[in-house]
Amino acid sequence: MRANDVRSSEFLRHGAYVCLRLSAGARQAGAAAAVPALAERLALRNEFEPGAGPPENSIAFLRRVGATPGDMADEGLERADAIVHVASASSDVVATFCKEVERLLAPAGSLLVLRGGVRPMVYTGNAMHNFAYAHRVLPQPGTVMPNAFLLPMSKTAAWWAKDWMERHTYFLPRYDDEGKMVNEGHALAAAAGIACLMRRTYKHESEPAPAGSYDFLTYFECADADVPVFHEVCAALRDVSRNPEWKFVREGPTWQGRRVATWRELFA
Ligand code: HEM
Repeated sequence: MRANDVRSSEFLRHGAYVCLRLSAGARQAGAAAAVPALAERLALRNEFEPGAGPPENSIAFLRRVGATPGDMADEGLERADAIVHVASASSDVVATFCKEVERLLAPAGSLLVLRGGVRPMVYTGNAMHNFAYAHRVLPQPGTVMPNAFLLPMSKTAAWWAKDWMERHTYFLPRYDDEGKMVNEGHALAAAAGIACLMRRTYKHESEPAPAGSYDFLTYFECADADVPVFHEVCAALRDVSRNPEWKFVREGPTWQGRRVATWRELFA
């Protein structure tokens, strides 16, 4: 008899970033759109004041600070004036929100919807969990961690052609035959962020994602004092002498926002 104990890689949670680019003179139309009523109807809890545990359904409002282009052009994200994040254990809630918000915001501007979900970890056993996630930063109120960064990316065909065992090696340091560390790999290069960055990664429904979609939507929140740490961590990950994994990464724009408490504040 053999076991049949393959672990699921299905989404644990679904999410979307709705990126809004306002048309000229449409600020008032945007502010007046019935997005708060839609959020209430779908029982979306505001992430600006997180509760004790993860909410069933949640929403967040992010006001543009700026954006830096990446390797892949993406006007819809790069020029977004505001982003609304919606998340739920139910894909229907996210799909309904996205569909209805498109209708509500059509008079105010153009929308780009980036969707994905949280999957069980792929490369993380107990030891990596204890290093990288056991003491992760949990969601904090918007007043404590007002900075938000959305950074979508994909990996190249050469990455996806590798066996999972080889891909796994890029998350750990590499050592030469004498045991001297040759490079840090993803987790160690990024370690400075563990204590101060709230991290969330959504993956695409298919792996790799189809052309025109991202494989990963990474998102971070932090306090004002830790914004330089966010940039240092990104620089460490991008330095292929420290983290060879990034040879296989193609980034979209890095969009920076400020978390605000209400829909209307996005247009103030
Ligand atoms: C702050 C400290 C960070 C730590 C400790 C860390 C650690 C890790 C670990 C252990 C994984 C593997 C998860 C798994 O088992 O599936 C992972 C995946 C990932 N991380 Fe990070 N990370 C950090 C920051 C970042 C940052 C700043 C970015 C983006 C700029 C990023 C992008 C990603 C992506 C896209 C994946 C999925 C990669 C794949 O499955 O091929 N991480 N991270």
